[in-house]
Amino acid sequence: MVDPVPVSARAANIEYAIRDVVVPATELERQGHSILKLNIGDPIAYPGLPTPTHMVEAYAAALRSGRNGYSPSYGLPELREAIAKDERNKGWEATADDVYVCHGVTEALQLIFAAVLEPNSKVLAPGPHYPPYMAYPQMYGATTVEYKLQNRNGWRLDFDDIEAKMDDDVRLLVLINPNNPCGTVSDAGDIDRLLDIAKQYPNCIVVADEIYDGLDFSGRHVSVASRSQHVPVISLNGVSKVYYAPGWRIGYMAIHDPTQRMGLVRDGLERLLRSRLCASTPAQVGYLAGLEGDRSWMQEYGDRVMSQRNYCLERIANIEGLEVEAPGGAFYMFVRLTDERWAEDDKSFVLELLHQEHVLLVHGSGFSPELGKGHVRLVYLPGVDVLKQAFDRIEQFLLRHR
Ligand SMILES: Cc1ncc(COP(=O)(O)O)c(C=O)c1O
Repeated sequence: MVDPVPVSARAANIEYAIRDVVVPATELERQGHSILKLNIGDPIAYPGLPTPTHMVEAYAAALRSGRNGYSPSYGLPELREAIAKDERNKGWEATADDVYVCHGVTEALQLIFAAVLEPNSKVLAPGPHYPPYMAYPQMYGATTVEYKLQNRNGWRLDFDDIEAKMDDDVRLLVLINPNNPCGTVSDAGDIDRLLDIAKQYPNCIVVADEIYDGLDFSGRHVSVASRSQHVPVISLNGVSKVYYAPGWRIGYMAIHDPTQRMGLVRDGLERLLRSRLCASTPAQVGYLAGLEGDRSWMQEYGDRVMSQRNYCLERIANIEGLEVEAPGGAFYMFVRLTDERWAEDDKSFVLELLHQEHVLLVHGSGFSPELGKGHVRLVYLPGVDVLKQAFDRIEQFLLRHR
């Protein structure tokens, strides 16, 4: 037996529940089983929601016309301007200089954490949350503290909990709106309350992850930056969800700095951005086509996602052992397991369901060990035919194990 070469603790500590459950599913597929996958928030993984043709053509044309070099580090100027215009339409005075194009929101997050966090800094993020908000800050010696989303109140923000957990070490206060995994949409009133709390801490920046903003079924979504008159806000968005092109890996951060306090952070971010060269040039051209082209297709896509959501709600209402707070946006439901056995062990539920019924969900504890426990996340991007089969199998499974 030879000694293995050591791995860094920071890498060994990384977990990404959404992809972790794919390992046993892939093994089952290798054995010849077909799996109904309701686990991954990738619209392209399901038939019927392709990336719009005009965007694909713009990307392909960019490749063919030789736009294969590096772009400027902060993004193509015409894309930065188009993003700024889009943000202005959401209600705040963004300029192209406020916009930095990244390899997806995920890269933007890594850069923000690198630019802001020191050992002992804290990130205050919703629980449950999208896993990188927990996984990455520890790489900088920082910790993520979760504030509560209210389990039986539509997963709304718990302001008492936020107030109790805020202190001067909280450098980033995160709002994911609409939320992954719960689908909560926080409205203007909730955002104002959050900003009022953040305002009392001068070194705190609000991170507004609005990657699902075009998938709002509640009609209540507003941009956080548009509500802030004092607090610095970094808005995050991109091509992955609302423009149905996650594999292009293009997103952005846009800095709203109403009281001009972000100069040093901006300088740090720009240094980091230059040191990683740039985001994919032809993919930026594809995103530009999406922003500048006709957007009427979005209605049809949204209607389809909404009708799939409604189908899931109907099925869940009629299955003993499941309950759900109706989501206002995104394409996720965070479903409560009411049978005691599964409520205590959502990961076993997911693994046994996978092995016995070949339906793949993600365990809620992967989105927060404490606040997500006893839940499963379901993606309602598949068509109703697939959702029907999946719910039939989930129902059988629950009956069998009652
Ligand atoms: C809340 C949230 N933010 C960011 C991302 C990833 O965004 P990107 O594809 O732009 O890296 C996801 C992906 O699921 C997400 O759910």
